[in-house]
Amino acid sequence: MNILVVTGSPRKNGNTEIMASAFAKSAREAGHEVTVKELSTLKVEPCLACTYCFTHDGVCIQNDDMNSILTDLSQADMLVLASPVYWFDVSAQTKCFIDRMYAFAKKRISY
Ligand SMILES: Cc1cc2nc3c(=O)[nH]c(=O)nc-3n(C[C@H](O)[C@H](O)[C@H](O)COP(=O)(O)O)c2cc1C
Repeated sequence: MNILVVTGSPRKNGNTEIMASAFAKSAREAGHEVTVKELSTLKVEPCLACTYCFTHDGVCIQNDDMNSILTDLSQADMLVLASPVYWFDVSAQTKCFIDRMYAFAKKRISY
């Protein structure tokens, strides 16, 4: 299985990244292909809700690191999302990532 792991803490080498890397190690040992993307080192801006992606085949108008994550996501069989708890919720970085998956909403999700 091709697994994409996205970590959403702004803190490099913090608990979230340690936990995700332990998961990735075990998954690789079990024979899976694992790609880890750490939002602490990447730029993922908030969704602009412009719906440009809806008329441009799922391509986002913003040119930041979310483009390469979306490419990884399109090739993944499973997404593992790891976030610290921030005020009883996911971190702002994780929420930006979740919102930016809207680029695939029209193409890949039927609702
Ligand atoms: C802004 C902020 C809000 C937080 N809110 C919570 C919370 O609501 N509940 C909780 O148990 N921990 C909370 N924490 C603690 C973090 O979830 C905890 O330290 C976590 O392990 C940090 O992950 P990291 O080491 O990957 O950055 C908060 C930390 C920060 C910085």
